[in-house]
Amino acid sequence: MSLQSRMVGVGAFLPPGIVTNEDLGKLMETSDEWIRQRTGIEERRWVAPEVSTSDLALEASKGALEDAGMKAEDIEMIILATLSPDHDFPGTAVFLQEKMGLAEIPTLDIRQQCTGFLYAISVADQYIRCGTYKNILVVGAEVHSKGLDKTTKGRDVSVLFGDGAGAVIMSATEVNDATKDPHLISSSLHTEGKYAKELWLQAPGMANVDTERLTQAVMDEGLHYPQMNGKVVFVHAVKRMSQCLTKVLENTNTSIDDVDVFLFHQANLRINQKVADMMKIPSEKCFNTIQKYGNTTAATIPIGMHDAIKAGVLKPGMLVASAAFGSGFTWAAALWRY
Ligand code: ACO
Repeated sequence: MSLQSRMVGVGAFLPPGIVTNEDLGKLMETSDEWIRQRTGIEERRWVAPEVSTSDLALEASKGALEDAGMKAEDIEMIILATLSPDHDFPGTAVFLQEKMGLAEIPTLDIRQQCTGFLYAISVADQYIRCGTYKNILVVGAEVHSKGLDKTTKGRDVSVLFGDGAGAVIMSATEVNDATKDPHLISSSLHTEGKYAKELWLQAPGMANVDTERLTQAVMDEGLHYPQMNGKVVFVHAVKRMSQCLTKVLENTNTSIDDVDVFLFHQANLRINQKVADMMKIPSEKCFNTIQKYGNTTAATIPIGMHDAIKAGVLKPGMLVASAAFGSGFTWAAALWRY
């Protein structure tokens, strides 16, 4: 018998505002055909002006609490992954804590972009297995739409991203039979900082050579919008996601056949198809949501989990494998029994 962590509740929230590829074509020179062929994306969600990242996180968290049959007061810590915080500081988990009415419990923001959710569940798992906390709320939430260059200049990046949030509650559990009992089995986290500038948001930033972190000149250059070297990101994403997932499966003596559902980060459908081809994963085992939501960064994996459960694809007792890659570069993989 050993103390482990498991996911006892899963929630997601997508804002109602649907933006199709055709809608984007009214803002910039792009087309449904270009976006679909290159990325698989058909539509994404954008928030209304008054909605922030912590608002989406709150709705997803309520869903996770309801699914777990728990009250907000049962939560002992909040870990929130985002690259689109409500404000530069304090962290967005602070605002979520206030909105949930949970004064004084610890909060932690994770800044690992697309890999943020897998980093977050790994951190939660450590606290739970150490016996520090029993119930941790882990959230991935993003509002991208307010931070994109929606002109033709920014089209390579802006067509990819959408707004949304997903949340899970991780709770302490005693595992008697590791082959049957739900728990987080393994995770593997990586970073290679030399590629930081291949996919980044330069400004505002204290490293900018100026006395101010944001100047009109910086904004005129568009450095307050995300910059991406798409081809480099694509190649590294395929390589690292497959490498990392292979390692996690090997280390746990798990075969592709053993895994019931593969929940990959949703950056580009072609990235996921390449990873699946390389690893000989049957496409029917891969659950993708990018067609409907675009890339919601730290939220893609919990949203995928939520939708897979609702679709009847992911059922209690099933084995889930996940892998993600993103800005940093950071990448990670994890294996859990749901
Ligand atoms: N609509 C129409 N044309 C476009 C668009 C657009 N939205 N964006 C770029 N183009 C044009 C380019 O200007 C270029 O035109 P040119 O040939 O006249 O110069 C042409 O399309 C081809 O551009 P490429 O960049 O070569 O297109 P590519 O086939 O590489 O596809 C893409 C671009 C989809 C971004 C791809 O590189 C990719 O998916 N990379 C990975 C990106 C990714 O995963 N990002 C994730 C962000 S973070 C994360 O979650 C990992």
